[in-house]
Amino acid sequence: MGTILNFLASDHHACDDLFATAEAAAAEKNWDGARSLFERFQAAMAHHLAMEETVLFPAFEARTGNAMGPTQVMRMEHEQMRGLLRDMAGAVAAGDRNAYLGLSETLNMLMQQHNLKEENMLYPMSDQVLGGDRDDLIRAMQALA
Ligand SMILES: [Fe+2]
Ligand SMILES: [Fe+2]
Repeated sequence: MGTILNFLASDHHACDDLFATAEAAAAEKNWDGARSLFERFQAAMAHHLAMEETVLFPAFEARTGNAMGPTQVMRMEHEQMRGLLRDMAGAVAAGDRNAYLGLSETLNMLMQQHNLKEENMLYPMSDQVLGGDRDDLIRAMQALA
């Protein structure tokens, strides 16, 4: 099995691809396409955030004895993303192109900065401190519904 970094970074890219296709459909006012792609994007994001919050972060916090450090910042940013996703769901349901594209631009900036911090810092640190449990943790993340 691979590293936590490879596993979760490739999930970031899968989420990014869904984000981009949903945004393109909304830009073209293809609302049927945009709604179904947004739903898939939202589900992929919910799954990704859940893998981190229920498997990776608790393991990292337990191993490092630090629940107030980097994982706390990541959890706060996840809440900001969830707020934007809720607003985007409203905009796509209403077929409001300007609102959707404005929110998606904000989400994209937040998401890219967040993902870089994880890929450059938190995931490599996790691979280091959780090395021996890595395969079990990846299996637990894959098993999340
Ligand atoms: Fe995250
Ligand atoms: Fe992530």
